Amino acid sequence: MATEQWQDVGAVEELCSKPLQQIMVGRTKLALIFRDGQFSAISGVCNHVGGPLGEGRLDGEYVVCPWHQWKFHCRTGLGEPGYEEDAVPRHDVKVENGRVLVNPTPASPRTRKSHEPHALARPVERGAGPPRVVGISTPAMDAANPRYSTSDALLEYAMDHAARIRGADTQLIRLNDLKFRHCEGYYSKSSRACTWPCSITQMDPGDQLDRVYEAIVHWADVILIATPIRWGGASSLYYKMIERMNCIQNQITIANKVLMHNKVAAFIITGGQDNVQAVAGQMLGFFSELGCHLPPFPYIAHSRGWSAEDMERNVRYVAESQELRDGAADLVSRAIDVAKVLLAADPVEARTTRGGRKAHRLDVPAPGGPASEIK
Ligand code: FES
Repeated sequence: MATEQWQDVGAVEELCSKPLQQIMVGRTKLALIFRDGQFSAISGVCNHVGGPLGEGRLDGEYVVCPWHQWKFHCRTGLGEPGYEEDAVPRHDVKVENGRVLVNPTPASPRTRKSHEPHALARPVERGAGPPRVVGISTPAMDAANPRYSTSDALLEYAMDHAARIRGADTQLIRLNDLKFRHCEGYYSKSSRACTWPCSITQMDPGDQLDRVYEAIVHWADVILIATPIRWGGASSLYYKMIERMNCIQNQITIANKVLMHNKVAAFIITGGQDNVQAVAGQMLGFFSELGCHLPPFPYIAHSRGWSAEDMERNVRYVAESQELRDGAADLVSRAIDVAKVLLAADPVEARTTRGGRKAHRLDVPAPGGPASEIK
């Protein structure tokens, strides 16, 4: 190895203060490790989707990627036991005259173990067949002692109408029946750390939100979501679900990949108390950002107002209201009608111009920020 290749990366005294750190050698990002009195270096770029290994942590002899916890041996760069083939390059390191020297030429290659892609990662293809409607129920309740839910009641009526009167294939998903983790903020680490399929879904086979992803991305033409109003917002399970759907929207932002094509979203919103427009506004905004179309008059709602605390009467009203049931049936019908038009025409997939959209590259530098800053 040519001596002139060694590059001085700093003083031993300073670099030995951290067990793991990211360093740059020229344009090469490395993870520098100091363990058991010895320096070593491996590539700073994870084999998975490029996470910064030097910003991770040490778990024994393994560097743990901060994005999704893949592990690489701190001296050899090999993947953890069972995944040795998934190796990142290692780099030679030596100490001379109190300085740490690193060779930027890798001493071993990057190799990748082939990983079976997750089932959700397959291309989205819509075959022939009747319209498909997925209903998503979002109220939280004690499953062993269920209560009457006004939003569920209208959702069930709409789903029955879709199947019996409109001849749609239907499936009803109750979030309350699924065990799924909260979004753990992979996007907050980096937009590239928020992957499709969802990072949690890929890592945790016990997480059941894959059923929702499968239904809304791969199966349904119409997505009909029902929520109660809770302190002016939608239900907590609704928010728990949509935080996990950032991975769908993020594909548009980072890869210009629209996963939801020719889908129609509609909403049923009910509450003893008010704030229908705020709840509807959030739902319309979010599902539009996923690429969904909206039928004319895309939601129905019912509430009795701020001072109505007699919930028993509210339940009775909804249970007995044929007008609300008709409204729910008509809502799903409007959504099916739009879905049919879309399926027949199959318009060219939307490609958005960046200006004003997420990941809009600023052409005027933000004060104090680089000209290329992306917002
Ligand atoms: S584990 Fe490193 S990028 Fe995903």
